[in-house]
Amino acid sequence: SKSKDFAGKKVLITMGPTQEAIDPVRFISNHSSGKMGMAIVKAFLARGAEVYAVSGPTKLTFPKEVNTTQVKSAQEMFEACQTIHAQMDICVFAAAVADYKPAEVAPQKIKKSSSKLELTLTKNVDIALTLGKAKSAHQIHVGFALETENESRFAKQKLTKKNFDLIVLNSLRDEGAGFQIDTNKVSIIHASGLSSESELLPKSQIAELILDEIKNVPVWI
Ligand code: PMT
Repeated sequence: SKSKDFAGKKVLITMGPTQEAIDPVRFISNHSSGKMGMAIVKAFLARGAEVYAVSGPTKLTFPKEVNTTQVKSAQEMFEACQTIHAQMDICVFAAAVADYKPAEVAPQKIKKSSSKLELTLTKNVDIALTLGKAKSAHQIHVGFALETENESRFAKQKLTKKNFDLIVLNSLRDEGAGFQIDTNKVSIIHASGLSSESELLPKSQIAELILDEIKNVPVWI
């Protein structure tokens, strides 16, 4: 059995997609299943942490030991995270948050009429960025970067901009990595610049690697 090396740590994990309503029957979303986040939730639980999951809509079942808040939109996910952030020791932002949402939610189902329909989108709150500005010296923030090109450059930009201590990069160019499947292949990049690359592994093992790397962050005690 694993050692309880995260005992006494409070951990927030954002996971899954967000859904941004267009009208009462439609939304904008993405392909996240929540599997990567759930693997991280389970790894922290097994290693003794007190786990708080804030999850967008998924088909997954949460272990009863997890403090789970289920949300739909990015705004709801932000509010749930904001409420508990100051009490957390570690935050892992594994959610695939919609960057944009419809500027207005139509109160009734939008009717099919003209051949073209234009939707105006506005920027969503960036949860990791906003909480990154509030991060205190003892807190560790772990981000994810899902990229399709210029992977390591974009990941390093996100690491800096969002004040992460480390970022987990996954690329849709890697077969077996990313959304929905049970495997992933990642690079874990520290703010110090040190980085390591994983093999293609089950998300459960990727989660263990992430926890191991968190213990290499300088503020870890
Ligand atoms: O859920 P699965 O099907 O298992 O798939 C896993 C995954 C591909 C979703 C996961 O491994 C992953 O990469 N999650 C992050 C996806 C993402 O939205 O990355 P990004 O590069 O757009 O965002 C960068 C970081 O900022 C992420 O930590 C993200 O959670 C965070 N963010 C982004 C936008 C926003 N408005 N708020 C945020 O907090």
